[in-house]
Amino acid sequence: MLLNSLLVAVLSCSVIANAQAALSNSTYFRPNSTGFRLQHGFETVVVQPYGYDGFRVRAWPFRPPNGNEISFLMDPPVEGPSNATASALTYDTTINGTQFFVIRNGNTLVKTYSTLGVGDNTTQVRLAFYRLNGDGSQTLLTNEYAPLKALNPRYYSWNGPGYEFFTAYSFSTTSDEQIYGTGTQQDHMVNKKGQTIDLINFNTHIPTPLFMSSRGYGFIWNSAAEGEMEFGTLRNRFTSKSTTLVDYAITSAPAGDYDTLQRRLSAMTGRAPLPPDWSLGYLHSKLRYENQTEFIQLAQNFHNYGIPVSLLVIDYQSWAHQGDWALDPGLWPNVSYMAEVVKNLTGAEIMASLWPSVEDASDNYNTMQVDGYLSATRSGPGTTDSWNGSYIRNYDATNPAARSFLWSNLYEHYYLNGIKNFWIDQADGGNLGEAYENNGQSNYITSIPYPLADVLYHAGTQMSVGKLYPWAHQAAIEEGLRNATGTQMGQPCDSLSLSRSGYIGSQRFCSMIWSGDTTAVWETLSAQVASGLSAASTGWGWWTLDIGGFQADPTVPWSNNIDEDAYRELYVRWQQWATFLPFMRNHGSRACNFQDAYTCNNEPWTYGANNTPIVVSYINLRYQLANYLKAIFTQFSTTGRMIMRPLFMDFSTTDPNVVAMTQNNSNVTTQQYMFGPRLLVTPVTLPNATQWSVYLPQTGAASAGAQPWTYWWTNVTYAGGQYVTVPAPLEHVPLFHLGTRADVFSGNVF
Ligand SMILES: *[C@@H]1O[C@H](CO)[C@@H](O)[C@H](O)[C@H]1NC(C)=O
Ligand SMILES: *[C@@H]1O[C@H](CO)[C@@H](O)[C@H](O)[C@H]1NC(C)=O
Ligand SMILES: *[C@@H]1O[C@H](CO)[C@@H](O)[C@H](O)[C@H]1NC(C)=O
Ligand SMILES: *[C@@H]1O[C@H](CO)[C@@H](O)[C@H](O)[C@H]1NC(C)=O
Ligand SMILES: *[C@@H]1O[C@H](CO)[C@@H](O)[C@H](O)[C@H]1NC(C)=O
Ligand SMILES: *[C@@H]1O[C@H](CO)[C@@H](O)[C@H](O)[C@H]1NC(C)=O
Ligand SMILES: *[C@@H]1O[C@H](CO)[C@@H](O)[C@H](O)[C@H]1NC(C)=O
Ligand SMILES: *[C@@H]1O[C@H](CO)[C@@H](O)[C@H](O)[C@H]1NC(C)=O
Ligand SMILES: *[C@@H]1O[C@H](CO)[C@@H](O)[C@H](O)[C@H]1NC(C)=O
Ligand SMILES: *[C@@H]1O[C@H](CO)[C@@H](O)[C@H](O)[C@H]1NC(C)=O
Ligand SMILES: *[C@@H]1O[C@H](CO)[C@@H](O)[C@H](O)[C@H]1NC(C)=O
Ligand SMILES: *[C@@H]1O[C@H](CO)[C@@H](O)[C@H](O)[C@H]1NC(C)=O
Repeated sequence: MLLNSLLVAVLSCSVIANAQAALSNSTYFRPNSTGFRLQHGFETVVVQPYGYDGFRVRAWPFRPPNGNEISFLMDPPVEGPSNATASALTYDTTINGTQFFVIRNGNTLVKTYSTLGVGDNTTQVRLAFYRLNGDGSQTLLTNEYAPLKALNPRYYSWNGPGYEFFTAYSFSTTSDEQIYGTGTQQDHMVNKKGQTIDLINFNTHIPTPLFMSSRGYGFIWNSAAEGEMEFGTLRNRFTSKSTTLVDYAITSAPAGDYDTLQRRLSAMTGRAPLPPDWSLGYLHSKLRYENQTEFIQLAQNFHNYGIPVSLLVIDYQSWAHQGDWALDPGLWPNVSYMAEVVKNLTGAEIMASLWPSVEDASDNYNTMQVDGYLSATRSGPGTTDSWNGSYIRNYDATNPAARSFLWSNLYEHYYLNGIKNFWIDQADGGNLGEAYENNGQSNYITSIPYPLADVLYHAGTQMSVGKLYPWAHQAAIEEGLRNATGTQMGQPCDSLSLSRSGYIGSQRFCSMIWSGDTTAVWETLSAQVASGLSAASTGWGWWTLDIGGFQADPTVPWSNNIDEDAYRELYVRWQQWATFLPFMRNHGSRACNFQDAYTCNNEPWTYGANNTPIVVSYINLRYQLANYLKAIFTQFSTTGRMIMRPLFMDFSTTDPNVVAMTQNNSNVTTQQYMFGPRLLVTPVTLPNATQWSVYLPQTGAASAGAQPWTYWWTNVTYAGGQYVTVPAPLEHVPLFHLGTRADVFSGNVF
């Protein structure tokens, strides 16, 4: 129901994914209704079976949806019985505000109930969702939260001059429920219970209303609007500030079976394609290689040092004006030649940064203004931000013609010249994605307490569709790359984008998401772990970060300074950890005491002679893990099986300590994770460490032959269910494996 061309692409993706359905649906309980429609005064609620074990709920006051509403859900879902597609508002039953009704889809039930009990005179009919367990019993997953005389759990209000309304939907929870996912925040939390999270995008903050619950259900608030998610003691609540339709989906899995739950969720939000093999190697970047000479020298240096590299990146301000979407020919005179030399020297691909911003001086400005390809503001065709002394407007990613215009520039100026990967920076939407305006003039005032620009788009206002912006921006590159290569969504990717933001279902694009502009201090290194695990639980397997942090913390003198030993240590710890991330990507805006380039160095050989062999050894290890990486990316693509795995994924049913530690966000669960099925990774997140304490989860009932953990660097084996302290000199990241090392290297792990 989205942007027409996108929908076509999305549908073709699901065809491919359907062919991969491994679940036997012959034995599966098919939905015993195509849906019901509840008429409740001015309000209509339609509930339909959706995917395996799922339901999709759409509701509206007064006016039915027109079919053009934005949706991030696969329609039909990637897997599921054919009559659980929710492709239109179909239903076989109509009920009024007092009737009891039940639908079963697989092992999930939706029931209507009255807050005062069935048969009462109340018209407060609510929805409740249950899981049908193997023994025939039913477990309440959640229901519409409706204590007597409280705000209606399906709440609508009108504050503006038009029809669009504010809505708040409340669902019951229990104090021990754990909430995983919700996109990314920088909060050290894997369990989001107790949090209220603004659904507004900023640099490093990609709030996304999709979660897995420890009660055994998954939930998606399918709205492009800004709003809030709230995970309280008794109530979970989702709000949209401005919308015309309420739309959410819920699915369940047996308690503790999070792989099935993620499979159900990703059948609704889309599966990832396969990344190009080269992208699983070492990806290198800095702010910034300034010109063609310097860039070719970079490739020459990698060649001379004999260090493998798979991607070299050209950062921002490589253009003459924002919105040119072309390299400045004064600095990059012969791009195709450069790409060929880089390829010949290193085999590496090239990625170039693009910003969404357009300044008046750009050649493209007039065309885009005339054709309506620029976002505007409520107060007129206003500018939305400024950068580097120029006021700017962002291109309107929600407009298909604007996406096409953007791509035609990228295609002509980069793609045809051999640069086929695109870094979509500042992609958060609204303005340039910082939590303040006047981006380029932030030296004196870093947080202006004014509201963010109230931007207008082709698809709606910032409030009503702001969460679409980064997703549509990823889609622009996806559509362009697919057009250029004659391939369809879902097929393996030839090249990639790298995005600072995303949304529900972003994993279906050939696009990595990185954790944004982080600071180069230990605390930030540690915060990235939980952020990555939340990204994974949201469905974004293709997550990465800036090795070493992006920018200096101004209060820490050594921060980001490549010539300071304190920073070099942080860098080495961060780099060795990143070997065990979906993508191993080095980037930063470094400081230095001795400068020999336009900006400070960030190459593997610039962190001191003692450290270079360590850094290089992890780059080499990354390439040795190629088979393992391909295996886990393939599983992610076919079943949604998460790559970075919070401990609760694998050990909830075998180790009660893991459940308890996740509840409290203990640092075991926010600092340790499984990378694929065999590797337990615990980055060192403090300076001067020579040893490290790691909790080894219990892998199974001892009587059933629990597998031991092997420390990668010593081959000493340990039983699960205990803390161990292992040697962790600077050259060793605490890494354990299950099974044999040979299986890890061969990728024979499923
Ligand atoms: C699942 O159902 C679909 C549609 O009814 C059918 O085409 C497919 O063969 C079934 N798959 C299995 C494994 O039974
Ligand atoms: C759903 O589909 C199955 C198989 O195609 C069929 O047997 C069943 O009657 C359908 N149920 C409904 C409610 O349409
Ligand atoms: C709701 O429908 C039931 C069953 O058809 C009927 O008995 C009841 O009177 C209806 N209630 C109202 C308020 O219309
Ligand atoms: C669907 O199945 C459930 C569980 O077996 C049952 O309670 C319910 O009445 C059925 N609903 C319909 C519409 O057949
Ligand atoms: C429901 O309404 C009927 C008719 O007005 C009344 O007799 C009955 O007591 C009411 N029931 C309740 C539980 O209020
Ligand atoms: C780029 O370099 C190649 C190889 O040296 C040369 O053939 C070509 O003419 C150059 N193109 C431009 C635009 O300078
Ligand atoms: C790259 O290598 C190929 C094959 O050896 C060679 O033909 C070509 O001239 C080289 N290109 C450049 C720009 O060096
Ligand atoms: C991709 O091609 C289709 C069909 O020609 C076109 O409608 C669409 O605008 C293109 N997308 C982009 C981003 O160029
Ligand atoms: C290119 O960058 C290098 C390194 O920063 C610098 O020394 C050189 O002057 C630059 N060359 C041009 C043509 O700008
Ligand atoms: C983890 O928490 C324990 C207890 O609070 C603390 O002693 C330890 O230093 C922490 N470890 C890290 C890496 O933060
Ligand atoms: C780490 O060791 C260095 C050198 O011995 C010392 O200066 C520094 O204070 C230590 N840092 C911490 C956090 O202990
Ligand atoms: C550990 O075992 C692997 C083979 O599984 C071997 O290659 C490696 O050298 C051993 N390491 C140590 C420290 O013994």
